[in-house]
Amino acid sequence: MAQANEINFYSAPLDGLSDQIWRRYILREVPEWDWVFTPFFRLPSASLFSTKTLVAHIGSDIFEDQKLMDKTVLQILLGPHGPLEQQIQTINQMGIKRLNINLGCPGRKVVAHQGGAFWLKELPLLAEKLKIIRQNFQGHLSAKIRSGFDHLNLDETLNLLNQEKIDQVILHPRLSTQLYHGRANWALFQTAREIFPELVVNGDICTLKDLSNVSNYSSEIMIGRGAIANPWLPQEYLQQKEFSLLERRNQIHQFVSFFVSEMKKEKFPESTILQRIKALGHYFLEKWPDKKSKVLRSQNLSEALDYL
Ligand SMILES: Cc1cc2nc3c(=O)[nH]c(=O)nc-3n(C[C@H](O)[C@H](O)[C@H](O)COP(=O)(O)O)c2cc1C
Repeated sequence: MAQANEINFYSAPLDGLSDQIWRRYILREVPEWDWVFTPFFRLPSASLFSTKTLVAHIGSDIFEDQKLMDKTVLQILLGPHGPLEQQIQTINQMGIKRLNINLGCPGRKVVAHQGGAFWLKELPLLAEKLKIIRQNFQGHLSAKIRSGFDHLNLDETLNLLNQEKIDQVILHPRLSTQLYHGRANWALFQTAREIFPELVVNGDICTLKDLSNVSNYSSEIMIGRGAIANPWLPQEYLQQKEFSLLERRNQIHQFVSFFVSEMKKEKFPESTILQRIKALGHYFLEKWPDKKSKVLRSQNLSEALDYL
């Protein structure tokens, strides 16, 4: 059997999907994930934030467990104003060792509030923000980008990130205006890594075949929707074989029972638990279309759990 290339697995920030309970599951149960990103934490535009709010965003169980924190990367979303220097100093003082800046979110509201991919079209202004962040954060600093806002300006962006001493870049090679349409343009990884060698590749990587293709560009691989669909993909990669449908079903049952019992412990109402299972099930039930449509149409939690 062919030997698998060494890969470092990054689970992507996914607002509304990779919440603290989902991250806790993969941190504990699938240790093959090397780095686990929080969804974006929006830095307020008029004030500092309360550290309690940030701990809740990361997940207090994760924050209090150094082993889990060692693999956790906090992602922030910049805004137009706000005391950035003080905000970053606070993050630094909280002992957070890995920070990621979201420069790729294409959401209309996010961009209108000068967040995410907005910065890809305002590189001189971005440089000022990056200087403040770099001066005030001592740990590992990465940026997550797309290949441009409405046109390709990847080289300029990467040169700027180099110049501002960003340690690592995660590239999702679509334009912001493309949203999630079309295919991620993996060919851009080749030129990107020539300018910025510390490159993490991301976008439409879901299967063992995808992993083997993109590992030609980088050994650092970030997976988003594919990680929700199959949190066990890094294990499959290491064993160089897909788990059988029966094995996958057992893993899903184990995951769902963990997820539901953690949500119940945290006193979430059943309607919220149902919503969360539907949001995740949309991805992890892709191999079972009938089951998926029944779960997504379920009126209450026990009905959804019965279909699983
Ligand atoms: C529902 C959803 C939420 C997302 N939330 C974030 C986010 O909070 N921060 C971020 O940088 N990217 C976010 N993304 C983008 C993903 O991290 C990733 O870059 C993108 O989905 C492409 O990778 P994939 O094809 O492996 O999913 C989100 C994507 C989706 C579909």
